Amino acid sequence: MYLGIDLGTSSVKALLIDGDQHVVGSGTASVAVSRPHPGWSEQDPADWIRATEQALSVLHADHADALGAVRGIGLSGHMHGATLLGDDDAVLRSCIMWNDTRSHAEAAELDADPRFRGITGNIVFPGFTAPKLVWVARNEPDLFAKTRKVLLPKDYLRLWLTGEHISEMSDSAGTSWLDTGKRLWSSELLAATDLTEEQMPGLVEGSEAGGRLRAEIANRFGMTSGIPLAGGAGDNAAAAIGVGTIQDGAAFASLGTSGVLFAANDAYLPNPESAVHAFCHALPNTWHQMGVILSATDALNWYAKLVGQDAASLSGALGEVLQAPSGPTFLPYLSGERTPHNDASIRGVFVGLGHESDTKTLTRAVLEGVTFAFRDSLEALKEAGTRLDRVTAVGGGSRSSYWLTLLATVLGIPVEVPADGEFGAAFGAARLGLLAAEDPDPAAVCTPPSIEQVHEPVRDLEQAFGDAYSRYRSLYPAIKGALA
Ligand code: XUL
Repeated sequence: MYLGIDLGTSSVKALLIDGDQHVVGSGTASVAVSRPHPGWSEQDPADWIRATEQALSVLHADHADALGAVRGIGLSGHMHGATLLGDDDAVLRSCIMWNDTRSHAEAAELDADPRFRGITGNIVFPGFTAPKLVWVARNEPDLFAKTRKVLLPKDYLRLWLTGEHISEMSDSAGTSWLDTGKRLWSSELLAATDLTEEQMPGLVEGSEAGGRLRAEIANRFGMTSGIPLAGGAGDNAAAAIGVGTIQDGAAFASLGTSGVLFAANDAYLPNPESAVHAFCHALPNTWHQMGVILSATDALNWYAKLVGQDAASLSGALGEVLQAPSGPTFLPYLSGERTPHNDASIRGVFVGLGHESDTKTLTRAVLEGVTFAFRDSLEALKEAGTRLDRVTAVGGGSRSSYWLTLLATVLGIPVEVPADGEFGAAFGAARLGLLAAEDPDPAAVCTPPSIEQVHEPVRDLEQAFGDAYSRYRSLYPAIKGALA
């Protein structure tokens, strides 16, 4: 048995798989996000532990024998968060999360220092960890002075589970302190933010052992003391492990709250100019590229709330047959955008409304806008040297056939939908737990799921959607100017 624990933005999920990777059971518990000021987003690390205890208690109640037979554990979690620890590992303040934009000015300052893009291969985005520490140094200097360690969210869970300060490459690549090509902390970049390597956790690969389960926790949940924890991964790399996106050029599109276009690479291929993320993957000597769209299903949820309906019925009402572009253009920048604009202050817009613009038309426009944002990420990946010939769709939005055919048509490649099953970040984390415990060939473990359906591009509509995409592209500079 193997256990994956995913610390998500809204819940913790603990998932048990057996040696054949069949799901045995799972437990979840929700975690709260607090937004004390506009643009802020924080979580209390004590709440992560409470939720993990709760999720493990569910497994213990329902699957005690299986939990007792666990041989390896993998962790995954939301990326980029800053968890600050003082003496005796005391938590100094709430974790500043990935979607917190308070440090946008500090991010721009660091990004203007060419060493950051040069060494990390990435733009210093406002959500990344390093600018948050600069913000703390300026606004909470007493806390900064007391900071002994900075941990990413899932690595704080590891500290609780093992007593050790350890991280791995995929999540650490999102801090702005990692030399992504060499897979090492950069003491130069740490020094540029008044930190040292001593304040960072030790590094292992995602599939390597990183810490062992403490007796106290093992006893509480009827587990075996001393079993290895894998390094694990940031949630996107963990999802990639779960959906088998590990071979060079393999890709998935995640239609979740935020959208991600993720491609595996067997070489380090940075291209910060196109706002592509170039991070380490969770397996040794592999990397990945990723375009991030901040509002994907979130844009449809926003519109659904506005018109007093739910997102599933809005997209369901479109039927299955793709129609020509809706007419109006929607820019989905409800909370700014990462790829390709790196713009925390841009906001969304509907352009071209008429008396005929009813709910259905605007639902289509919203889906089209988010899909054009995926096309932007595809173009950014191309600029960074990656060509995709197909993509696997995951996430809540992938339940809409209409959307998937639209995605295939706008990207110009087939979109594959896996058969029902478990292949999220918790499943990927469990696979990493298996790899760390047994050391098998990763390619034999991280296999893709069976594909239930393939959505092909609708060739007759490609030209019309190509034109609509050009209109979409032309609007960002105009809106930027209008909002300035
Ligand atoms: C990736 C990113 C998000 C978070 C939250 O760069 O910010 O995907 O990991 O899930």
